[in-house]
Amino acid sequence: MGNGIAHVFAQSGFSVNLIDVQAAQLEKALTTITKNMDRQISKGSLTEDQKQAALSQLRTTTDLAQGVSKADLVVEAATENTELKLKIFQQIDSAAPAGCILATNTSSISITKIAAVTKRPELVIGMHFMNPVPVMKLVEIINGYATQKEVTEKIVTLSKQLGKIPCVVNDYPGFIANRILMPMINEAICSLFEGVAGVEEIDTVMKLGMAHPMGPLQLADFIGLDVCLAILNVLHEGFGNPKYAPCPLLVNMVMAKNLGVKSGKGFYDYSHGGKELVVAPNFKK
Ligand SMILES: NC(=O)c1ccc[n+]([C@@H]2O[C@H](COP(=O)([O-])OP(=O)(O)OC[C@H]3O[C@@H](n4cnc5c(N)ncnc54)[C@H](O)[C@@H]3O)[C@@H](O)[C@H]2O)c1
Repeated sequence: MGNGIAHVFAQSGFSVNLIDVQAAQLEKALTTITKNMDRQISKGSLTEDQKQAALSQLRTTTDLAQGVSKADLVVEAATENTELKLKIFQQIDSAAPAGCILATNTSSISITKIAAVTKRPELVIGMHFMNPVPVMKLVEIINGYATQKEVTEKIVTLSKQLGKIPCVVNDYPGFIANRILMPMINEAICSLFEGVAGVEEIDTVMKLGMAHPMGPLQLADFIGLDVCLAILNVLHEGFGNPKYAPCPLLVNMVMAKNLGVKSGKGFYDYSHGGKELVVAPNFKK
């Protein structure tokens, strides 16, 4: 997500410091950004000159304090782990200039909780980009309990400058995107678990019947089953409502490290490397 966010900011003319703890991830990010810009050129939505201009806006560093020291805005997109994000926000808060807005791309962690570990909770906000960032239009903007109205307005304007469509929501578990998406995915997994239908049938009903571009099980594989489980746990704990309890099949698949596309197997098998959808052996009839 970090490389996608850096891509859209650089392409919109902003100077970007891309920061990661792993230097290898930074190299990989630059390769990905270049490859994605080349794809835009082949589709005619970017010129070679615009690509060079965007790439010249990008710097990379593993030094977080130095990377944020002159920033007007920081968009954090590190691994989805509460303790890690709280630690990173304390570090950013002490290194970034006063007045710098601190945004997080978290999918599910409370903005209010993150803001509370900083000395500037009024300047902390959720800026939830969708994957793949250069392609997806939505930015879900999440107001924490203390977020200043002017900060929200600035982030709305900025999102439009990035060519995105902002939607402002409030900070409750799952915000809007995942509060609605994850129960649907969980229900699809429960339907499979209870034997109501097979993987292909469930996805086909939702694709052809509801005009979804991708079935919920395939989408879960793309998001990562570990990520889906983590978000469902946030909803379940946050609302204390059993309707959000993760399906035992999802829990088992995550324990077995069948995490979807990133591990090569989830509801579908991706080990063949092709684009064709092949149902994973566990779910073959
Ligand atoms: N993957 C998605 O589809 C998606 C969609 C929307 C939002 N998000 C959110 O975006 C964030 C990132 O997701 P991702 O899928 O890109 O995660 P990822 O685990 O693929 O990448 C996270 C990156 O953070 C780096 N990192 C870890 N600790 C760090 C630290 N202390 N300082 C700097 N960098 C650090 C890692 O090296 C890694 O390169 C998460 O909060 C996630 O919930 C993800």
